[in-house]
Amino acid sequence: MKAITYYNYGSSEVLHQVEMPKPTPQANEILVKIHASTVTPVDCSFRSADPFIVRFFTGLFRPKMPVLGTELAGEIVAVGRDVRRFSIGEHIFAALADGRGAHSEYICLPEQGAQVTLPRNMDFAQAATLCNGALTALPFLRDSGKIQSGQRVLINGASGSIGIAAVQLAKYFGAHVTGVCSGAKLDFVRELGADKVIDYTREDFCKNDQPYDIVFDTVGKSSFSASKQVLTPHGVYLSTVITCETFFMMMWTGLRNGKKARLSATGLRSAPDQIKDMEMIKSLVEDGVLTAEIDRTYALAQIAQAHRYVETGHKRGNVVIQIA
Ligand SMILES: NC(=O)c1ccc[n+]([C@@H]2O[C@H](COP(=O)([O-])OP(=O)(O)OC[C@H]3O[C@@H](n4cnc5c(N)ncnc54)[C@H](OP(=O)(O)O)[C@@H]3O)[C@@H](O)[C@H]2O)c1
Repeated sequence: MKAITYYNYGSSEVLHQVEMPKPTPQANEILVKIHASTVTPVDCSFRSADPFIVRFFTGLFRPKMPVLGTELAGEIVAVGRDVRRFSIGEHIFAALADGRGAHSEYICLPEQGAQVTLPRNMDFAQAATLCNGALTALPFLRDSGKIQSGQRVLINGASGSIGIAAVQLAKYFGAHVTGVCSGAKLDFVRELGADKVIDYTREDFCKNDQPYDIVFDTVGKSSFSASKQVLTPHGVYLSTVITCETFFMMMWTGLRNGKKARLSATGLRSAPDQIKDMEMIKSLVEDGVLTAEIDRTYALAQIAQAHRYVETGHKRGNVVIQIA
């Protein structure tokens, strides 16, 4: 089978398409023929080991696992003898336990892993995008932010993969939503359901005069210190990007009453928790609450181009890798 491998950290040039043996499922595994995956900032960060801290997950001196790709959609083509939860022919979408392995034609996944059958109104390419976006945004807003109906919520990076899901989920939870992105994407974010939009190239949301119950920075471009000026007295600042400042503020504000900073690594949650959320995401998709936005699609052999595009930091929604 074809797979994209990397054996050293570096630019997109370290990625190479190779032939590898097709895996055989163990008794409790399913074999998935991957139809689509994505390239996300997480893949780029694992590839380049930037920031340095990712090496503690991916390998201190060189990558421990040669195939990237955190999410996929595909068809089950074989099952191990003890598998009961899935059968051959089912179409699934999946978040990979250690965040790697989807940039190949086939993969074996544990039966109890974070995979769920496809929403009936999505194809493989759309469903492949649900785990980086919605599966990250949901626990941030619901569990870390404790979002409530009627709250004022600001989503920074509202046009990115996580941002798009966050805008739609915050509306679903009944919040008044302000989306922040650049001018060219304002209409798009409005169409997603945002009640108000801010062009970050013209206006600093931290200087807004109406406070927010939640500021969710999906792209890590702001700070708690600046954002707390626009938080309500018990408001919460959420960030997907772990910086020293936000980490320190999370510890410090956790000890006191008042405004809080919260970080989370949603990919490290248990498979049963992820499966519960994936089932919820699936029904929200089927009910038309959540949609998937695909910016560009690349073939597996063009993956280095996909990495370069994602690294611009300006994709709209998701970059899909069409594999089968
Ligand atoms: N903590 C976790 O569990 C977790 C899980 C998954 C991902 N992540 C992290 O989450 C981050 C976001 O991932 P993603 O896939 O959603 O990113 P993404 O799709 O690549 O984000 C791109 C979007 O960010 C917007 N943007 C760029 N600069 C901005 C700025 N200064 N202010 C506001 N918006 C800006 C861009 O809009 P314009 O083009 O209009 O500028 C673009 O639409 C990544 O750093 C990733 O590593 C964390």
